[in-house]
Amino acid sequence: MKSIMMTQAHLHSLCLLILYLAAGYGQDGKFSGPLKPMTFSMYEGQEPSQILFQFKANPPAVTFELTGETDGVFQIQPDGLLYCVQALDREARAVHNLQVAALDSHGTIVEGPVPITIEVKDINDNRPMFLQSKYEGSVRENSRPGKPFMYVNATDLDDPATLNGQLFYQIAIQLPKVNDVMYFQINNKTGAISLTLQGAKELDPAKNPSYSLVVSVKDMGGQSDNSFSDTTSVDILVKENIWKAPPPVTIVENSTEPHFFKITQVQWNEPGAQYSLVEKEKLPRFPFSIDQEGNIYVTQPLDREEKDSYVFYAVAKDEVGKPLAYPLEIYVTVEDINDNPPMCPSALTVFEVQENERLGSNIGTLTAQDRDKENTPSSLLMYRIVEQVPKIPADELFLVEKFEGKFQLGKQSLKKQDTPQYNLTVEVSDQDFKTLCLVQINVIDINDQIPIFEKSDYGNLTLAEDTGVGSVILTIRATDADEPFTGSSKILYRIIEGDSEGRLEVDTDPQTSVGYVKIKKPLDFETAPVSNIVVQAENPEPLVSGVSYNASSQARFQLTVTDVNEAPQFSKYAFQATVSEDAPVGTKVGNVTAKDPEGLDVSYSLRNDKRGWLRIDSATGDIFTVAPLDREAESVYQVQVVATEKGRSSLSSTTDFLLILQDVNDNPPRLAKEYTGLFFCHPLSAPGSLIFEATDDDQLSFRGHQFIFSLGSESLKTDWEVSRINGTHARLSTKHTNFEERVYNISVRISDMGRPPLEGTVTLPVTFCSCVEERCFRPAPKQSGIPTVGMAVGILLTTFLIIGIILAVVFIRMKKNNSKDNVENAQAPEARPLRS
Ligand SMILES: *[C@@H]1O[C@H](CO)[C@@H](O)[C@H](O)[C@H]1NC(C)=O
Ligand SMILES: *[C@@H]1O[C@H](CO)[C@@H](O)[C@H](O)[C@H]1NC(C)=O
Ligand SMILES: *[C@@H]1O[C@H](CO)[C@@H](O)[C@H](O)[C@H]1NC(C)=O
Ligand SMILES: *[C@@H]1O[C@H](CO)[C@@H](O)[C@H](O)[C@H]1NC(C)=O
Ligand SMILES: *[C@@H]1O[C@H](CO)[C@@H](O)[C@H](O)[C@H]1NC(C)=O
Ligand SMILES: *[C@@H]1O[C@H](CO)[C@@H](O)[C@H](O)[C@H]1NC(C)=O
Ligand SMILES: *[C@@H]1O[C@H](CO)[C@@H](O)[C@H](O)[C@H]1NC(C)=O
Ligand SMILES: *[C@@H]1O[C@H](CO)[C@@H](O)[C@H](O)[C@H]1NC(C)=O
Ligand SMILES: *[C@@H]1O[C@H](CO)[C@@H](O)[C@H](O)[C@H]1NC(C)=O
Repeated sequence: MKSIMMTQAHLHSLCLLILYLAAGYGQDGKFSGPLKPMTFSMYEGQEPSQILFQFKANPPAVTFELTGETDGVFQIQPDGLLYCVQALDREARAVHNLQVAALDSHGTIVEGPVPITIEVKDINDNRPMFLQSKYEGSVRENSRPGKPFMYVNATDLDDPATLNGQLFYQIAIQLPKVNDVMYFQINNKTGAISLTLQGAKELDPAKNPSYSLVVSVKDMGGQSDNSFSDTTSVDILVKENIWKAPPPVTIVENSTEPHFFKITQVQWNEPGAQYSLVEKEKLPRFPFSIDQEGNIYVTQPLDREEKDSYVFYAVAKDEVGKPLAYPLEIYVTVEDINDNPPMCPSALTVFEVQENERLGSNIGTLTAQDRDKENTPSSLLMYRIVEQVPKIPADELFLVEKFEGKFQLGKQSLKKQDTPQYNLTVEVSDQDFKTLCLVQINVIDINDQIPIFEKSDYGNLTLAEDTGVGSVILTIRATDADEPFTGSSKILYRIIEGDSEGRLEVDTDPQTSVGYVKIKKPLDFETAPVSNIVVQAENPEPLVSGVSYNASSQARFQLTVTDVNEAPQFSKYAFQATVSEDAPVGTKVGNVTAKDPEGLDVSYSLRNDKRGWLRIDSATGDIFTVAPLDREAESVYQVQVVATEKGRSSLSSTTDFLLILQDVNDNPPRLAKEYTGLFFCHPLSAPGSLIFEATDDDQLSFRGHQFIFSLGSESLKTDWEVSRINGTHARLSTKHTNFEERVYNISVRISDMGRPPLEGTVTLPVTFCSCVEERCFRPAPKQSGIPTVGMAVGILLTTFLIIGIILAVVFIRMKKNNSKDNVENAQAPEARPLRS
């Protein structure tokens, strides 16, 4: 039965042999040696007559003996050569345990025995085989995809620890197969067969109850061209899924059966499922349960009027709590029984009917309720009058419509003298229940009386015009002889004359019908000093025909509003005017106006004129300047204007007057700072220059200052030159180097380019001086008097000495401390001469 598929092993054994030969037969080394425990590893299925090892014996040993699991495969020669005479078979014996001993000439063991272990290595010499040539299985429709429902199983005798024994399952064919969709899948390692996603969705025993698969198995993990394979056929029966939602259940409410009782059931496809119920809506109580056979029970009587249907889920789980399938929805409807009597809308229902009302007039409707299901006999109500109290002047004065509960006058009009009130007992019934409701019918007066004022003229009313809104200014009263506390006697007051502006309103006290006249909008003497007000009293209910309101339902009063003195009011909240700052004294800059509500004359005055610039005409409100203005002092000048009414009370108001001053070019340009320290070192080695800056005080235009610079006199031009750098800066340069050691006052004209242009002449004092380290040094002034020659020489020497000492001191001082010079006019770094 040995296969010849063993090229690799074959080569290996050849190598072994070659190595053995090369190592030298009979010599100590890899393939020969003394007797000791050894382990050899050999592939199965190799050619026979292979030498494993040459044992060397030491005297007195003359021969060797081999024992153990030789299986007739291993032999040893007397000279110690161990070899095999047949090919090995791992599947017959994977490990041979041998012993080798050395014997002397008497056959007595003198060395060993030592264990020799031969491990047989696997080659793929066995094909996988399915345990059955045909498998049969079944699956429920809608089973969970991936959950195995059957296994196929193949074996391979080769070593499962090597690729040779690793099996790989595959579905080769599925019959029938529609649109190339596989409904089944197989685990390539375990042979477990399950549904694919599509299979779980689409399998339907009604369409196709059985499928055939051809499943193949390969060894070598299915990865090698040299693997062996086997196939088997698998027949699968598709069974109906019995995990289905049961039909909706109907339970009669208020059931008298002993609870709980079974209402329906669910069942998983296989036994052993764990069932449970899950609420869909969160309920205060959940009156259902399920047992482990899938029977569903209702646990207590239901009330349709509380909840008329239930929906919940039945869930099947496996033993570890994993859902076996989607949950099923269970619908329960609660069926109505007539378990609710009709209910009166309230303990007492009151209707009113007017005296003398016509027969057949509608009096009112009684609407009772029934909580049972609508539009069933359980909730269909019927009305019947069972008693009338009193029966004066007759019984059955009223009719009720049988199904709608409408009440009518049935026999005659009613009179209040007979009785002002009837009590009716009304029976309301449904199929099974009767309820009695009480109805009270009040006979009310007709509106045949008009309200009559207690007096027709409430006289003269004088109010100050500042009387507050909401004040009650007058109380009026009319009476109505109709039945109290009905719409026939209630009185509403309405002002019908003298108040077109709606300044007044009248509130009625519902208990006493007294009217309170109130101020709704502020009164105004100036618009309406005297008004004649007429008030009409009316009922909300219409009067019966033939009766109408007459003059007795009206009252009048005269309202006189007295004036209250008010302060003058300015025509604007604040005033402002704009004027050029060079406006001549006496210019009118603006005006203010104020009016007195009482029409009094107003006089004006100024307050807070802190610079004394302005004057106001007290009669006209015109404002004039009384002094030169200066924008540079106040760009916006703010004063208060007071308006005072001319009268005893002299009320006054105050407002602001803002005078905005516009700039005029009234400031000539000047030097930006005092230039005292400009100097050049004398003698000049080359023409030099220095920079200065100008400014002026007028308002800057958006371009900034734009000055023009020129020398102050023609004579200066021989020695000096001025050149503009930009709008504010200019450069003063010498034209040559011949200057004396003294101060030159250079006058420079600077012109702004304003309208009109203004020109300033400035003087720049420029010193030419001896310099020490580029600093101006000015010697002490010379002594007066005419010195002798000797004195002169002495003085000269002394002077030189002093100069030398001073120079030395200056040098030392300057080295030590730059800020402590005893040198004059030497601080002008920004105007330092520029030497070329
Ligand atoms: C396959 O068969 C072998 C040998 O009979 C057995 O050991 C193994 O458990 C089986 N496997 C399955 C998945 O049935
Ligand atoms: C075998 O199945 C596993 C998943 O079960 C998959 O990852 C693997 O790729 C499959 N092997 C082959 C060769 O198809
Ligand atoms: C039904 O239930 C109501 C309370 O909900 C109870 O008053 C009534 O007697 C019950 N009727 C029947 C027939 O059980
Ligand atoms: C009607 O019933 C009310 C109480 O329900 C009672 O006060 C009243 O006197 C009754 N009227 C008549 C006319 O019987
Ligand atoms: C109310 O005043 C007017 C004049 O303003 C006068 O004619 C009238 O008589 C007065 N009425 C009363 C009731 O005093
Ligand atoms: C207004 O009518 C009533 C009766 O409704 C009567 O008493 C009264 O005198 C009438 N008043 C005038 C001014 O006609
Ligand atoms: C007051 O000034 C306004 C402009 O502010 C002017 O229209 C008006 O004529 C002036 N009134 C008098 C009396 O000058
Ligand atoms: C004008 O020139 C001076 C000197 O170069 C410089 O300091 C100044 O920033 C300049 N001003 C403007 C506005 O460019
Ligand atoms: C220069 O001006 C200053 C004062 O501005 C004056 O004291 C000095 O004498 C003048 N020098 C000359 C040379 O004019």
